[in-house]
Amino acid sequence: MTDKKERTLVVIKPDGIQRSLIGEIVKRYERAGLKLVGIKMFVPESGFVEKHYLLDPGWKESVGKKTLEAYKDKGLEHPAGDDPIKAADTIIEALKKYLSSGPVIAMVWEGINSVGVVRKITGGTEPLTSDVGTIRGDYTIDSYKLADVDGRSVRNLVHASGSPEEAKNEIKLWFSEKELLDYRLVQEAILYDVNLDGILE
Ligand code: CMP
Repeated sequence: MTDKKERTLVVIKPDGIQRSLIGEIVKRYERAGLKLVGIKMFVPESGFVEKHYLLDPGWKESVGKKTLEAYKDKGLEHPAGDDPIKAADTIIEALKKYLSSGPVIAMVWEGINSVGVVRKITGGTEPLTSDVGTIRGDYTIDSYKLADVDGRSVRNLVHASGSPEEAKNEIKLWFSEKELLDYRLVQEAILYDVNLDGILE
C-alpha cells in the first residue's frame, strides 16, 4: 500500500506548550517531509480527554500492560499488582487532569506512512527510556515511577496516534471535515514523483 495521503493526529500537550516547544515539535514533523493539513489550539474538557483515550476499546488493556511491563523490566512492583485494567483506570483519571490543565495544540499530519513516521520522530511513551534524537527523548526526562509516586500522568509532551485505524477515529473526534485542508505542497514533487524532470530549466 502506498497511501501518500495517510493522516495522523498529533497533540502537543499542556507541558509542551508551557515548555515553549511548539516550534521545535512542529519543525521535526515538518522537516521530515510531512504535510500539515489541520491545526488548532484549545483547552480540552476532561470528558473530551476521556472520550479520546477510550475510543479504542483495547486501550485500557494495552496501556495497563505496557505500564506493568515497564515496571517489571526495572524490577519494580506496580501498586495495581498484575491487573492492567486497574493500572489503566488510575492512568485515565490522571490524564483527564493533565490534558485539561491548559491549552493544547492539535494537528493532523499527512504523508506516506505518516503514523509510523510520526511515532518514530516522537519516541516511546516514557521519556526516561525513549531514544535520543526523538522529541520525548531529547526534550524531557519524566518516568512512569516518578509520575506514579506523585499520582499524575507521565508528562511526555505529545500524543501521537498509534495506528492508521486509531488515527482515523481520533481525527474524526478532534476535527471536522472542513477544518482539514486538501492542498499541494511543492516539496511533494521531490518526495513522490517518479521522474525528477521539473528541476532543470
Ligand atoms: P500518550 O501517548 O498520550 O498515551 C497515553 C498517555 O498516558 C501517555 O501518553 C502518557 O502521558 C500517559 N501514561 C501512560 N502510561 C502511564 C503511566 N504508567 N503512568 C502515568 N501516565 C501514563
